[in-house]
Amino acid sequence: MRIYKAKDKAEVSRKAANIISAQIILKPDSVLGLATGDSPIGTYEQLIDWYNKGDLDFSQITAVNLDEYQGLGPDDEQSYAYFMRKHLFDHVNIDPVNCFIEDGLAEEPQAECIRYTELIRGIGGIDLQLLGIGPNAHIGFNEPGEALEKDTHLVKLNESTIRANSRFFDSEDDVPKFAYTMGIKAIMQARCIVLVANGEAKADAMYKCVCGTISAEAPASFLQLHNNVFIVADEAALSKVETRIPIDKEVTI
Ligand code: F6R
Repeated sequence: MRIYKAKDKAEVSRKAANIISAQIILKPDSVLGLATGDSPIGTYEQLIDWYNKGDLDFSQITAVNLDEYQGLGPDDEQSYAYFMRKHLFDHVNIDPVNCFIEDGLAEEPQAECIRYTELIRGIGGIDLQLLGIGPNAHIGFNEPGEALEKDTHLVKLNESTIRANSRFFDSEDDVPKFAYTMGIKAIMQARCIVLVANGEAKADAMYKCVCGTISAEAPASFLQLHNNVFIVADEAALSKVETRIPIDKEVTI
């Protein structure tokens, strides 16, 4: 694990965008695994900025998103498909036919899970997976539990996740209760993983991710077993990690 300590959210975004840019420049036809939520927005803004300056070309990129709420179609403003168009895809020259996400309106959830798992396998897996982290240490919507599911599955969201995500909805009741998520296997098989985190609210989760026991109770802890992970987080998010691992600017553990 390489851990970068940033002074603030802007620096987190710039550093993460830097790593993603290097991936795109070195392999223009990369498969990028992408995330939604608050954490990656600044990273996407930075990538758009560099694209506008002529430094990045997304024309050969394939994107596969981590997760999608069940019951929301791509034109629903709360859907993750909509989020990705709004925050990245509509602003760069990525080909929409190469942008994939679970179908929140699929009539047969089981078939949808199989379709998405096979789609990821069919495109050769993921070169670089961008992740946020939930306050309960979830990655994608792989929630803490007794065991982790390896393939794409439908998950009942935890109360704490529903509460955390209600900030994007009018009320907690409006947050869908189920979501599709990529399984832990596709995430762990990504050739590179970049996890971004900001703020005090992520300090416990970051401690579990970096220093905790590897357990399904803290899905992000499995990243300790991956050999090419970049953690890019601000001082507040790393505050508990630093009680165990002093980090000047960056450290490899
Ligand atoms: C989103 C996703 C989630 C979020 C996590 C953190 O696609 O997979 O795991 O990354 O819930 O969300 P934010 O960044 O909003 O704090």
